[in-house]
Formats: sequence, C-alpha cells, structure tokens
Amino acid sequence: MPLLQQPIVRVTNLSKSYRFQTILKDLSFCLETGKRIALVGPSGCGKTTLLNCLGGVDRVDTGSIEINGLKLEELSSEELTQMRRESIGTIFQFFHLLPTLSVFENIEFPLQLLGIKGAERKERVMELLTRVGLVHQLKALPTELSGGEMQRVAIARALVHRPCLLLADEPTGNLDSVNGSKVLELLAELSNEYHITMLMVTHSHEAARICHQVFEMQDGMMIEKLNGIAQQENR
Ligand SMILES: Nc1ncnc2c1ncn2[C@@H]1O[C@H](COP(=O)(O)OP(=O)(O)OP(=O)(O)O)[C@@H](O)[C@H]1O
Ligand SMILES: [Mg+2]
Repeated sequence: MPLLQQPIVRVTNLSKSYRFQTILKDLSFCLETGKRIALVGPSGCGKTTLLNCLGGVDRVDTGSIEINGLKLEELSSEELTQMRRESIGTIFQFFHLLPTLSVFENIEFPLQLLGIKGAERKERVMELLTRVGLVHQLKALPTELSGGEMQRVAIARALVHRPCLLLADEPTGNLDSVNGSKVLELLAELSNEYHITMLMVTHSHEAARICHQVFEMQDGMMIEKLNGIAQQENR
C-alpha cells in the first residue's frame, strides 16, 4: 500500500498585518513532502510576507505555522534561527550572494553556521557545485559571474545543508528566458532528487508549469488552481 503523503508545512488560520493593513487573512493550507508549489498573485498581495513567515524571518500575528512537526510560534528566536539554518533553503530574485566570498565559500557558508567539519563541508559543496555545473568557477567571486551562474550558486547554497523546504521568491525574475529555463530545469531536477518541498513565488507561466500545484493569492486569501502536472498526475 502506498504511504500517505505527510504535509511538511501546515499553516492554520494565519493572519498578518503591517500597522493597520491586513496582508494575510486567515490562511490555512498544507504543502506536501516533495511537491513543488507555485505561488502567484498581484504585486503587493503578500507573497513575500508569507515566505518570510514560513522561513521564520517574520512572525505571524495569529495562527500557526508547523514545519516538519515544529510549531514556529512556540519557538524562541534562537530556536527559530536554528530551525531556519537546518530546515529551510531560500532563493531570491537578486541572488543575495555574499560579494566578498568566492563561489565555494558562498555555498559552504550555511554548513559553517551548522558547525559541520571541513572535510564534510568540502564534499557537500563539491557535490552541489557539480550538480549546478560550476566546478570550474569555484574560486570566482560573484561579480565575475553571469546572472544565470549567480542563481545556480544561490541554488547550490540553498540546498547544501539538505533542507526539507525550499522557498524561492521569483528565482527567474532577473534572468533572460534561456537562463530562466535552465534554472527552472535545475530546480525541478534537484527538488526531485533531494525530495524537497518547494514553494516558489513567480509571475512566469513557465515557472508554474514545473510545479505540481498552483496557489493564487488574492486579497490576503489563497485559492488553489490545478495546473498541467497536477492534472496529469490525477488522471
Ligand atoms: N516590513 C514592512 N512594513 C510595512 N509594510 C510592509 C512590510 N513588508 C511588506 N509590507 C507591505 O505589505 C504588502 C505586501 O508586501 P509583499 O512584499 O509581501 O508583497 P508581494 O506579493 O511579495 O509583492 P511583489 O509581487 O511586488 O513582490 C505591501 O503593501 C507592502 O507594502
Ligand atoms: Mg515579493
């Protein structure tokens, strides 16, 4: 009998306001292990705010976020930082690489924060560098890379500590269509290979096509839409 898919993320009645403006209104949803979910919606509707809450960068006002069995609202700031370092990978539109560190050192950084020893760090960084096709650039600085290469470094950095959840905020938003497609292909391949759940904010239809589910945010609420992959798998 197939195992039931356990949700890696369970959000219950989440609300979040900034000053007098309610951004997220009573959201409830689950993200299942190993699935890729696209998050779409108009500018300013709260997509990044939601990602920040899921990644433990921001706190919710009311409601609950459970990641891998841990309720974020019950964690202290130190515990939240540790949860983020161990369980979450993040990719941004503008890469956010550390400019004074080499490609190798950027990818190694999350492992240093976790106190992983040098030999294992090297092995894991080299594995990811190989997977993103950038071994030949390991000594380069981020400024010496193209946008597509920078995002591939950011993907390696986001996955090197083997997180269970990858949060991607418009990862192809700053890339041309060829590099954007390469990055999407890589994200699909690696999330399958490492069995990672990915929530990806995107404005691109192509990005949504590599996802199993599409969630649309509107007026602080979330609606699920069926896309190509989900329809094919449900057949
Ligand atoms: N730290 C903050 N303090 C006050 N208001 C904020 C803060 N961060 C976001 N907001 C407001 O919350 C709303 C949602 O912002 P958010 O960045 O989540 O939108 P978004 O859906 O990611 O938009 P975009 O597609 O343009 O990136 C916006 O009105 C924004 O001005
Ligand atoms: Mg945003």
